Amino acid sequence: MILKELYELTENMLAAAGVEDHRFDTDCLFEDILDADKVTLLLHGDREVSEPDADRLMSAAEKRCSGIPLQYILGKWEFFGRTFFVGSGVLIPRPDTEILVEKVIEHFAGQNNRSPEICDLCSGSGCIAVTLKKELPGAAVHAVELSSDAMPYLMKNIRHNEADVKIIKGDVTDGRLLENFLDPDDFGEYRRIDAVVSNPPYLTDKEMNELSREVKYEPELALRGGMDGLKFYRIISVLWKEILKDGGLIAFEIGFEQGEAVKDILQKSGYKNIAVHKDLAGHDRVVTGQAYFS
Ligand SMILES: C[S@@+](CC[C@H](N)C(=O)[O-])C[C@H]1O[C@@H](n2cnc3c(N)ncnc32)[C@H](O)[C@@H]1O
Repeated sequence: MILKELYELTENMLAAAGVEDHRFDTDCLFEDILDADKVTLLLHGDREVSEPDADRLMSAAEKRCSGIPLQYILGKWEFFGRTFFVGSGVLIPRPDTEILVEKVIEHFAGQNNRSPEICDLCSGSGCIAVTLKKELPGAAVHAVELSSDAMPYLMKNIRHNEADVKIIKGDVTDGRLLENFLDPDDFGEYRRIDAVVSNPPYLTDKEMNELSREVKYEPELALRGGMDGLKFYRIISVLWKEILKDGGLIAFEIGFEQGEAVKDILQKSGYKNIAVHKDLAGHDRVVTGQAYFS
């Protein structure tokens, strides 16, 4: 079969299977598997495709038709201009999360602190932790993650992007994790850090019952945020305030209907300068605040 015929066949298959962005997905599969971009298709569309190559393409297209996310088939995805490896067991980095990263970078750009200590809770693929380390090279960045399935991706992405990020494996709702931040020079006291950043699981029970075919392939542990989706915000804002400096930043990604609720949680936990930031679609997407103790 020639290249352009295979393209048409693939796109038709994806469209018939209800894949929304069938043309985009076909383009990605062709680029990744056959190294054939749009220009190649235009200039060399009559090129014969070898049988093994056509088989590999068809097998990927069948996976996509069954609902497996494109990113899991490709095994990687872009975030903030860098490549992150993904697969079953780890959340696919979303463009919305780039807003969270931008807000943290902006916060430190406005300060003289060139070597902040930052903790990324619920790190998953490590897209937030790695990006912060690359964009703020003087920072000391920790990535906290519970899932053993996500852990190999986190490690691989840190190595691949040559980012000096320290991993802490554990449950962010367990206060014992704070022992990692005990001050060796001050018995029983915590070393105070500059920022706690998190894109925690935030879907409600109701939303968990209405997941799209693709999102159902992503790990439940990465999505379910308790009955009202707010469990992690309540716990993190109180527990991890213990290790924030006076004026230290807390920054959360949120579901687009959670702005007011998360703002309220931060207010009740004693944070100040609380702000809700919107994403490119105009939805509430990030909440930031600063810890003050006096
Ligand atoms: C919404 S995903 C975010 C992943 C990544 N930070 C991102 O922005 O793409 C939430 C992550 O939290 C992890 N997680 C869930 N419960 C956790 C817990 N109690 N302690 C630590 N990590 C947890 C999940 O495994 C998942 O990787």
